[in-house]
Amino acid sequence: MTVKRSEYVASAVTPSQYPEACYPEIALVGRSNVGKSSLINRLVNRRNLARTSSQPGKTQTINFYLINAAWYFVDLPGYGFARVSHNTREHWRTMIEKYLSQRSTIQQVWQLVDLRHPPTEQDQQMVQWLSHYRFPKLIIATKADKISKSQRVKNLGIIRNRLDVPETELISFSAESGEGKEKLLSEIEKILGY
Ligand code: GTP
Ligand code: MG
Repeated sequence: MTVKRSEYVASAVTPSQYPEACYPEIALVGRSNVGKSSLINRLVNRRNLARTSSQPGKTQTINFYLINAAWYFVDLPGYGFARVSHNTREHWRTMIEKYLSQRSTIQQVWQLVDLRHPPTEQDQQMVQWLSHYRFPKLIIATKADKISKSQRVKNLGIIRNRLDVPETELISFSAESGEGKEKLLSEIEKILGY
């Protein structure tokens, strides 16, 4: 798959603000600051299509990006960010759950985890939630550039174990180096039936 066009379409907080459900969607979930927005930018070869920040809590709405005029990448707010108020966290959680449970065009959910660290309890809850509702999913272990090759292998094993996912559903990635990008692009082809 080659990304030829990518455009920002909408930011939504409530379902009434979603764009019309007429394209297949890939949704990105994961802890605040794990690299969801950066992954989108890397895959579409744009520096700033999705806004990123070194401070967690950057993405605060559900953002829809239309790719090749054919499918949506959907960037979601992160979970687990301790430094925002309880109310804000609850608001984000509801926003994410509503989107995931109501949007009929989601083809696959990509859950990002940090390859440097063992998955958190919230990562475990999210993957269990996705499995329970039978979402097709991929676990993407990102920031791979930040650790050595041998550490990566070891940590991938820990992640597989803790999240209880098959090897085929776990991909290591780096938005910095582009590692894993081609694999993800061919996953998208499979999802879209190209
Ligand atoms: P929220 O919107 O707050 O939920 O965060 P996010 O998951 O969208 O993370 P974002 O893409 O904004 O990235 C957070 C920080 O991590 C930024 O400073 C990125 O430059 C950095 N980052 C993201 N992915 C990578 C990666 O693969 N390697 C390295 N070295 N840094 C990364
Ligand atoms: Mg973001």
